[in-house]
Amino acid sequence: MKSTILTVLLFCLYGGVMGQYENTIVGPTKAVNPYQYSVVKSGTFNRASVSSAHPLASMVGTAIMQQGGNAFDATIATQLALAVVYPGAGNIGGGGFTLARKKDGTLIGIDFREAAPAKASRDMYLDAAGNAQDALSQSGHLASGVPGTVAGIFATYAHAKLPFAMLIQPAIDLARYGFVITEKEAASLNGTKKDFVQYSTRPSAFVKDTKWKVGDTLVQLELANTLTRIQKNGAKGFYEGETAALIVDEMKRGGGLITLDDLKNYQAKSRTPIVFNYRGYGIISFAPPSSGGILIGQMLKMIEPFNVQKMGFQTPESVQLMIEIERRAYADRAAHIGDPDFYKVPQKTLLQDTYLKNRMSDYKAGVAGSSTQTQAGTIKTSEETTHFSVVDPEGNMVAVTTTLNGGYGNRTVVGGAGFLLNNEMDDFSAKPGSPNMYGAIGGEANSIEPHKRMLSSMTPTLLTKNNKPFLTVGTPGGTTIPTSVFQTIVNIVDFNMSLEDAINNPKFHHQWLPDEVSIEKTFSQSTKEALEKMGYLIKTRGSIGRTEGILIGPTGKRITVADKRGDDAVAGF
Ligand code: GLY
Repeated sequence: MKSTILTVLLFCLYGGVMGQYENTIVGPTKAVNPYQYSVVKSGTFNRASVSSAHPLASMVGTAIMQQGGNAFDATIATQLALAVVYPGAGNIGGGGFTLARKKDGTLIGIDFREAAPAKASRDMYLDAAGNAQDALSQSGHLASGVPGTVAGIFATYAHAKLPFAMLIQPAIDLARYGFVITEKEAASLNGTKKDFVQYSTRPSAFVKDTKWKVGDTLVQLELANTLTRIQKNGAKGFYEGETAALIVDEMKRGGGLITLDDLKNYQAKSRTPIVFNYRGYGIISFAPPSSGGILIGQMLKMIEPFNVQKMGFQTPESVQLMIEIERRAYADRAAHIGDPDFYKVPQKTLLQDTYLKNRMSDYKAGVAGSSTQTQAGTIKTSEETTHFSVVDPEGNMVAVTTTLNGGYGNRTVVGGAGFLLNNEMDDFSAKPGSPNMYGAIGGEANSIEPHKRMLSSMTPTLLTKNNKPFLTVGTPGGTTIPTSVFQTIVNIVDFNMSLEDAINNPKFHHQWLPDEVSIEKTFSQSTKEALEKMGYLIKTRGSIGRTEGILIGPTGKRITVADKRGDDAVAGF
């Protein structure tokens, strides 16, 4: 196995604790040592692999497949493990999308996006003067949509093979007996302490008197008990009974809207994936209420007529073209995409060749466009998230992007239940033209209505080559998600890059409004200067995305890469 190992400073300081509980750790957790692990950034595996935001989650998913599970078993185990070891975005209090292609070619799209509570209303975040109050949609109880993750997990379980109890056991063990945290996790928990205290009504496992440091063990007993209720009672262990009562009590204490009925009525939905071809590759991505599939469909279709390979990777010419494409796609996102059960999304038109050709008709090479001039196309009516990718020995491939929205969601830990709730209500358009936490603008299509699902950018995506599995890919990053996936695909298909380079090379982003280009620090200085001369406003930002991918090579090897930007790690066999 070729791998770059960034060994984090983790020592087996907790051997005593491990020994004490050894007999109670069953199944796959035995194969995973939560007190000593490494961040393995890439690997080529013969049969199966996982790439996720945390080494322990990737190892848990792999161990499940080693014990006979398929990609769906591994997806469930990885997702539940992430809810424990990666509390900033892994979750049971949030939502997301699972996209899969089964070995026989069947496509599966599971929408477990959060929904607005029944008591939510269009202007619920506006003050007396009619201004959107970001604080309410972004933090605390009122910011939370009805969580979808547990329903999504049980919808996925319809395709799994192993007993559910076995799939959730590693997450229970990791929560009950703890795991050693990395330097990044320690810094992140310390940085969020004030918010945990402000927005939670009960003490939580994330807050302690002294500072967290690398090598500390994070134990989450309340979360372990919640997971055990799900193990015993299935989805009802979350949406009904004790867990539901704890969520509703938390809502009452903090002025939130979610009721027992909201929880009981929540359902994951099946969505038909968006499918199209790009330069001979089959692309499969997620339909609304994610904007991701439409956006990468639009962007890849808009770039297809151009010889981008000849322009060269991240030259001023190719980057300018891609910026103008991103501008046009995101203008359409703001106007035309929302929950299709509440708003008629003109999906077919948005992906039509003639429509997209027309969108690019005013593109001028070498001259910066403007978001005042470029508006959404006319249609005749007729940041914290996490992604993981799984491929199993049978050739099933799964891409899951799941989110609490911001890092640690609304920062409210459900008292007695030990998990964080999302702040996904901020992904609705609280007021037409008023930006959300990603600076994204929206309108009628994405206004708040009871039970409606807020528009997402999450873009779990699969590629086929000659009708065979080729790539599973996705990333967190709020509105930058579709542009990261778009650029990763162009890097592989047009610039012939390895998966590792395609993921780790610097990214850039334009989302129509604000009319500016974000670049990563390592982006080419000369290209930046050339773009500025054309008239672009360029802003440097920390990082764009944390992409996880598995590429199935010509001999069937699983080339597996975790983004260099975080603790993301791969595992496989
Ligand atoms: N919460 C980020 C997204 O769904 O796009």
